[in-house]
Amino acid sequence: MSFPALEAQGVCKYFSADGSRPLLPLPWLGRQAKKVAAVEDISFRLPRGEILGILGPNGSGKSTLVRLVATLLLPDKGWIRVFGHDVVREAAAVKKMINRVSAEAAFFKRLSAVENLMYAARLYGMEGRTARRRIGEILERLGIAAEKAREPLEELSRGMQQKVAIARAFLTSPVLLLLDEPTTGLDPRSKREVQDFIRELRAVHDTTVLLTTHDMAEADSLCDRVAIMCDGRFVALDTPARLKASLEPTHVGASLEDVFLALTGKELQAEEEAA
Ligand SMILES: Nc1ncnc2c1ncn2[C@@H]1O[C@H](COP(=O)(O)OP(=O)(O)O)[C@@H](O)[C@H]1O
Ligand SMILES: [Mg+2]
Repeated sequence: MSFPALEAQGVCKYFSADGSRPLLPLPWLGRQAKKVAAVEDISFRLPRGEILGILGPNGSGKSTLVRLVATLLLPDKGWIRVFGHDVVREAAAVKKMINRVSAEAAFFKRLSAVENLMYAARLYGMEGRTARRRIGEILERLGIAAEKAREPLEELSRGMQQKVAIARAFLTSPVLLLLDEPTTGLDPRSKREVQDFIRELRAVHDTTVLLTTHDMAEADSLCDRVAIMCDGRFVALDTPARLKASLEPTHVGASLEDVFLALTGKELQAEEEAA
């Protein structure tokens, strides 16, 4: 039997409301520290090769969920398995199979893409010749010309920088790629480049992708299935087509925005358009 790329069951994560300290149960005080349920009772399965989008407004718990999968946080309840490995008990095995790319990807901006990738390869313990070959392949796939790849990263477009961040995650051939808001803050063209790159990675490498976004159009066009997240919960999880069809017959031709509104009673703030 082959395991799903990712499986979560009844996962909860709580933070203390002020965010400054871990939750301490203090029953003798007759009260509990006020807590925020960042992730509340989330269960899902992600088959290999699928792109699953988590769509939700700021503060809905998307990054917390990604960090739980990435073994950076411990769940308070429930379990998560990556290809059958428990993220808590088998964290080392899980770390080898995943790679997380977040908006605040750390790079040496004065160094070039090649230098940054060589540095990362060394951290990953890759042998020099293997690293150079792999980096060459990756840069070619990114469509970064040799001269560009040697320019300081800070001189490349933000879309290009983000692609280098995703490319870095590919040095170790992760089978599960976690992308936390990979296109947030990018201009439309860079956004499209990154989206095309994600599609291509999946097509060529059969990579499984869990990505978060608050961009409806992105979720609709890029993801095989979309989980709509609100206040720590998944309020729906299905293909974009079925989510939209769920509003029929009262609402034919619904957008994911309409679905979100119908399910949560809230507008998903349109930061991209406002920016
Ligand atoms: N380290 C933390 N300490 C305290 N509260 C946190 C922490 N991380 C996230 N939260 C809270 O958990 C909720 C979900 O946050 P987050 O997962 O970052 O949402 P999103 O990525 O969807 O914007 C928010 O209320 C946030 O304030
Ligand atoms: Mg976030």
